Amino acid sequence: MPACSSPSYMASQAWLSQALSPSQSSHAVPVINLGRLKKDPATRALVIQDIVRACREWGCFQVVNHGISKSIMKGALEAASEFFELSAEHKEVFTSTDIRQPVRYDTSSRDGISRARSFLKHYANPLEDWVQFWPMYPPTYRKKIGEYAVEIQRVSMQLMDAILQGLGLRPMYLQEKLEKGMQFLALNNYPQFSHQDDRIGLAPHSDYGFLTILLQSSPGLEVMPHKDNSWKAIPAIPGALHVHIGDHLEVLSNGQLKSLVHRAILNPAEARISIASIHGLSMDEKVNCAKELVDDHHPKLYRGSSFHDFLDFLPSNIEYKRFVESLKIDGA
Ligand code: OGA
Ligand code: NI
Repeated sequence: MPACSSPSYMASQAWLSQALSPSQSSHAVPVINLGRLKKDPATRALVIQDIVRACREWGCFQVVNHGISKSIMKGALEAASEFFELSAEHKEVFTSTDIRQPVRYDTSSRDGISRARSFLKHYANPLEDWVQFWPMYPPTYRKKIGEYAVEIQRVSMQLMDAILQGLGLRPMYLQEKLEKGMQFLALNNYPQFSHQDDRIGLAPHSDYGFLTILLQSSPGLEVMPHKDNSWKAIPAIPGALHVHIGDHLEVLSNGQLKSLVHRAILNPAEARISIASIHGLSMDEKVNCAKELVDDHHPKLYRGSSFHDFLDFLPSNIEYKRFVESLKIDGA
């Protein structure tokens, strides 16, 4: 093998070019201006192309100009942080070992991947079905998280439509089911890193839905992009949202897109809040490979599964692996 194509030479070149031009676009997570989706068809087609390229190369991207006001985003982070500041007794009413509870609060590693984080998880779409179960304290919680959830659900619909069209599926594919589909919010609270701690707040994992949309109060999210398999920190660009691919989009796309492995690192400068919104079909609806993406040359790669199947899988997932690995059809 010539020296210039040996793995260590290429690795050192990659490192060098990264060190010399850290802001060069191919090294930074793609940022998509979502407002351009609503422009003329040619512009929309270009944005869709950019989104799908980001999904293939990175498994994630950031969105700006998504139409959610700064005050709604700030309000959601404030409500989350006020919830975590409540006394233990207000939070512990939501603690349960039953992962099927509609609202769940916990402080550590019952789920196998949490380290230092505490979290509150609950459903959000359709809002009128779920808001009655949400915390009543802080008193603004339901209003602020509700406003944010509705806006994020809207953005998730736009993104799914763009991604599925980018894969060659017809406009509005699955739209009705997505409208009624599940939205699952995970509010995460991470302490500031101190030197005695493990740096990891949340161990590497992928999310099970189609898409996750994440709002972070400060940096801490790291991703393993598909194109180069090394951890990359995701900056907290003011006003931007981070979007990544989940296991069920890998299934729906018949493996054309892959779910993104990510983790959270404790921030040395401050405690950190993030709000992850996970979007999928309704709980009992099985997600299958889109039949339009299966043919003689592209056999079906995954078995169908629902969110309930995912919940059944969780307790058996002791050595953490992606849910989608358990769905692969042998020999396909
Ligand atoms: C999650 C998650 C990342 C973060 O909640 O699934 O990956 O930065 N969160 O909190
Ligand atoms: Ni996650």
